[in-house]
Amino acid sequence: MAARVILIIGGGIAAYRTLDVIRILRRRGIDVTCVMTEAASHFVTPLSVQALSGEAVHRDLLSLAEDSSMDHIALSRSADLLVLCPASANLLARMAHGLADDLATTLLLATDKPVLAAPAMNVRMWENPATQRNLSLLRAQGCHFVGPDEGEMACGEFGPGRLSTPDAIVDAIEARLPRSFARSGQASASQIHAGQARAGQALAGQAPAERVPARQPLSGRSVLVTAGPTQEPIDPVRFIANRSSGRQGYAIAAACAALGAEVTLVSGPTNLPCPEGVRRIDVTTACDMDAACKAALPVDAAICTAAVGDWRVAEPALQKRKKPHEKPRTGTAAQPASSLTLTLVENPDILASLSRPGPDRPALVVGFAAETEALESHAREKRQRKGCDWLLANDVGAGSSVFGGDRNTILFLTATETTLWPELPKATIGRALADRIAAFFSGHIARTRHSASPTAADPETDPATDPAIDPAPASPGDQSPAGTAETR
Ligand SMILES: Cc1cc2nc3c(=O)[nH]c(=O)nc-3n(C[C@H](O)[C@H](O)[C@H](O)COP(=O)(O)O)c2cc1C
Repeated sequence: MAARVILIIGGGIAAYRTLDVIRILRRRGIDVTCVMTEAASHFVTPLSVQALSGEAVHRDLLSLAEDSSMDHIALSRSADLLVLCPASANLLARMAHGLADDLATTLLLATDKPVLAAPAMNVRMWENPATQRNLSLLRAQGCHFVGPDEGEMACGEFGPGRLSTPDAIVDAIEARLPRSFARSGQASASQIHAGQARAGQALAGQAPAERVPARQPLSGRSVLVTAGPTQEPIDPVRFIANRSSGRQGYAIAAACAALGAEVTLVSGPTNLPCPEGVRRIDVTTACDMDAACKAALPVDAAICTAAVGDWRVAEPALQKRKKPHEKPRTGTAAQPASSLTLTLVENPDILASLSRPGPDRPALVVGFAAETEALESHAREKRQRKGCDWLLANDVGAGSSVFGGDRNTILFLTATETTLWPELPKATIGRALADRIAAFFSGHIARTRHSASPTAADPETDPATDPAIDPAPASPGDQSPAGTAETR
């Protein structure tokens, strides 16, 4: 059985390009159930959509139950992913505000599956603050986006708002399908659940409702984590680096993967093994890390723990630099015989760039700050300056063993909260942060555990006793581009 998407076609001039999306999906072995809004059927005929998808097209909420064996709730759960293409400004607005005034928006409200939107509209409509506010709301609700692209519009204006290419949209769809059949078209989510249910039944004889494994808290979420130091070459054998071991970032990547997230770990040079279930991209310099992070977008959350070098050598030597041996070596430590001046230029600011508003900004951007003095005031100022949502600051001053050590003490900052977490193993901090991220994406649903921060008593070895963290995560207001700092 193939993967299945529900493709919701909105009312926009780009609706005709959805026909190509359907064609490519089917060519790649993905089944498509199409839903059209009333406006969409003025731009493309239901008959064309039905012919290409090979299935009946659903258009009306009230006649759905009469005409088919499936009601809107069942339909909303019947696929692995819901896709809006084209996502008109109106459709995005209706979804952002939770309207359920037609079949499309009712499915979007009722679904428990991930949603991917491919917006397409006039550039002024796209840039309008009302649309941008709706996009922020949708991102915070966990909606994924592909595009829009920039270019000339059907109306003759130029700018962002063009529908992404059908190939790019189908690539984004495949990337959002559960890993087991992404790019292979092998099995559907329902098949996987059935397989697990059978195993559960044979082992435990549980009631059917209990045999289907619960969705992991971060299932369907993509998380980018940066970790480790960067190395900036001076010449082919020397470099400028820092003391970061990467352990905290690796622990966070492992914890997010354990909660079901699709994790991309962009790592500077470390000696650490890649955590299970994590895709690692190895980089050396800050520029490499910046490029790898941009290539990993879009993601739902970005966590910048890497100690990115602030500076790089403007012109690294192509050959090993030599000492000036020709001069008599009469220098002392206080007055050296010769000196070398290196011109440094500023590196890209990865955290600030990920935090910048735009279509690819992750719904949640988390920075780390390593400080040697005035921890809280420096951290608060960095959160503002960088524009990230949450900042985890740690003291790496003299006497601290944070770099390379197994434990860390975190000052956790959002726009509205400052909490000091006690000294904890880095693995525990990783799980506490992953828990908090899951709470953020769960739509701020209150959980059963209510302590305000991780506790030092938490044993690192037992995830079941992981620290409970404040179940009231940052509000969308915390996502204002008013931000943070990474370990710089
Ligand atoms: C010729 C024409 C082209 C349109 N193109 C777009 C478009 O590309 N994007 C968009 O957001 N709205 C566009 N609109 C406006 C939408 O059709 C209108 O907002 C409609 O209510 C959207 O319906 P929906 O919520 O079902 O998508 C267009 C309208 C017309 C008359």
